[in-house]
Amino acid sequence: MAKAKASELDWNKLGFGYRDLPYRWQDEYVDGHWLGGGLTADSNMVLNEAAQVLHYGQEVFEGLKAYRTKEGKVQLFRPSDNAKRLNNSADRLLMPHYPEEKFLEAVKAVVKANEEFVPPYGTGGTLYLRPFMVGTQPLVGVTPAENFVFRVYATPVGAYVKGLTPMPYVLSKYDRAAPAGTGQAKTSGNYAASLLPEMEAKKAGYADALYLDPKEHKYVDEFSGANFFGVTKDGQFVTPKSNSILPSITKRSLLQVAEDLGLNPVEKQLTLADLDNLAEAGAMGTAAVISPVGSLTDLDGKKHVFYSETEVGPVTTKLYNALMNVQLGDAEDTHGWVVPVD
Ligand code: PLP
Ligand code: COI
Repeated sequence: MAKAKASELDWNKLGFGYRDLPYRWQDEYVDGHWLGGGLTADSNMVLNEAAQVLHYGQEVFEGLKAYRTKEGKVQLFRPSDNAKRLNNSADRLLMPHYPEEKFLEAVKAVVKANEEFVPPYGTGGTLYLRPFMVGTQPLVGVTPAENFVFRVYATPVGAYVKGLTPMPYVLSKYDRAAPAGTGQAKTSGNYAASLLPEMEAKKAGYADALYLDPKEHKYVDEFSGANFFGVTKDGQFVTPKSNSILPSITKRSLLQVAEDLGLNPVEKQLTLADLDNLAEAGAMGTAAVISPVGSLTDLDGKKHVFYSETEVGPVTTKLYNALMNVQLGDAEDTHGWVVPVD
């Protein structure tokens, strides 16, 4: 694959895709410790045919972004939370921790080495960072690897969905086989299970599928790549409490932002009937940012419209601006979420 050239990119129309940037970070876990790692230009990884990850999916990953401020500086949003979650996921899959300070060193090094690919302020683009860890040991039996690779690559991205344009969504008839009871592991197997429901949803004209909890099929869980939120008719920010969803950093941030805005936020189990009490709804995540949910079609084909199928609601807009302003450095970072890349 040809290396990307910053001068050839249209920053306003990046889409959400992979580009082969000049540098990535790689570290290796051998004989019970990390070697230390460093930047490499090679975007390919050579794996043995029996590498654990290829067969049994011992993999964890994270997603975070680097943002360009109005002054031209570059900053990260809550990267330590990604480091902690990666290590929680690693525990679930019997993988070693990547030390938090090494995680921060790696992420910052990748941003700095590819700085010309951090999109300019005002374009809507950001530099997406993908830290991940895989079990590389050749194994035939279902056992955990003893050797691992940790890598961080970066790619410039635009909107994952359609920015602030409301989109139609559909309830999934499939379970997304999340690791039972943990809600912590972002594993490759976890995401492969959402490929079919997501593809069927897209073919039918929806932006994505919304999953119900896999145990009782009664409560709203989340989307394939984002958490769910709603704003009740009396102005309360609500988001599902569930141990089969990914603990989203964006969600945790919006719970705080909603608190700051006086929206009396609450995490609680939400049934489909509860959706009738929502004036607005949305998807939230690093990639999705805040993507308004215009409508949700249930398994009987009944369409539930939230604020509007064409216009974004006022509270969703407020939340979006409040979050983006901190991420882009346009508002004061009162919660200590921003980390400059110097
Ligand atoms: N849920 C799923 C399944 C995801 O893949 C993501 C994206 O990382 C999220 C939620 C949002 O999490 P975060 O806000 O930490 O990016
Ligand atoms: C993220 O938001 O970082 C994710 O992992 C979502 C993914 C579907 C791109």
